[in-house]
Amino acid sequence: MTRFTVNNQPVEYKLDARTPLLWALRDASNLTGTKYGCGSGDCGACTVDIDGAAVRSCQVTIGSIEGTFVTTIEGLSDNRDHPVQRAFLDANVGQCGYCIPGMVMTAAALLRKNRNPSDEDIKAAITNLCRCGIYPRLVEAVGRAAR
Ligand code: FES
Repeated sequence: MTRFTVNNQPVEYKLDARTPLLWALRDASNLTGTKYGCGSGDCGACTVDIDGAAVRSCQVTIGSIEGTFVTTIEGLSDNRDHPVQRAFLDANVGQCGYCIPGMVMTAAALLRKNRNPSDEDIKAAITNLCRCGIYPRLVEAVGRAAR
């Protein structure tokens, strides 16, 4: 039994402790906003927040995060209007949209640590991949969210 908190709700997963967090969230908790892209820690589509840090959930097992606080895109804002989400909408960042939850989670974690990031800071922190090539709009949106 693995216990931690997801979106302010205690969870207990009766899954193998080696189960990647990504699959526990998607399959056991039906939190499908967290996306599977590569499964190897490269793309960032699966990014969630664990204790204030952006973490690629395909790369952590549920057994390794006992007692932590996990936030997914579904829990980022009660009304789905987090400043980063609003800035992404205002800057029309999304194209196909698949990578956006991971991008938003990574950007939100960045802005908690750095309220005034430069473009270089944003590019360095958000290494998530996007096949649509949204990067210029992404940098603009994160800059807007910081203001
Ligand atoms: Fe986790 Fe790509 S699915 S980094």
